Amino acid sequence: MDTSFREMMAAFPSGVSVVTGHDGGPRPYGMTCSALCSLSADPPSLLVCLRAASPTLAAVTRSGAFAVNLLHGDAQDVAALFGSGAADRFDRVAWRPCAGSGSPALVEAAHTVADCLVERVHPAGDHAIVVGTVRHIERLREGSALLYGFRRYRTWTHAAAPIG
Ligand SMILES: Cc1cc2nc3c(=O)[nH]c(=O)nc-3n(C[C@H](O)[C@H](O)[C@H](O)COP(=O)(O)O)c2cc1C
Repeated sequence: MDTSFREMMAAFPSGVSVVTGHDGGPRPYGMTCSALCSLSADPPSLLVCLRAASPTLAAVTRSGAFAVNLLHGDAQDVAALFGSGAADRFDRVAWRPCAGSGSPALVEAAHTVADCLVERVHPAGDHAIVVGTVRHIERLREGSALLYGFRRYRTWTHAAAPIG
């Protein structure tokens, strides 16, 4: 069977995050990102892949910091909003700056926010790989995670382990 690269990656479901940052000024930046990968436990680090022309990538590179907002299962509309290119995306969600870097935390859409410092940025084709060290993790909500695969959203509910 001949399968395109996009079809192949669509058949690899993943969690959904919104990567946020700022450029030193008051304007927040952020984009939906499913290309998120754990990299190292010591030091705790992760990587995200952001499109090379993204204003969010430019802001993250300039400020040297970003936040990874892991979306909960009811935040499908926020995933779509931050994947849409809408100029007013931050006017339509609740957010506040992370205490450390000032990167925006999406306090209603995220179940967890990781505040990160940029370690390295590697250009890679039409994207860039951003490696970040995790400086602080804030847990906002328990219960579910948003997944994306086969061009659809799904909710993965974290049920308590069965007794016995
Ligand atoms: C579910 C979903 C996952 C996405 N994952 C990524 C990703 O991993 N990397 C990326 O560069 N764009 C990804 N996008 C597309 C960006 O979110 C989209 O291009 C966005 O408008 C970029 O915002 P910007 O203009 O602020 O860069 C994804 C979109 C959706 C809806």
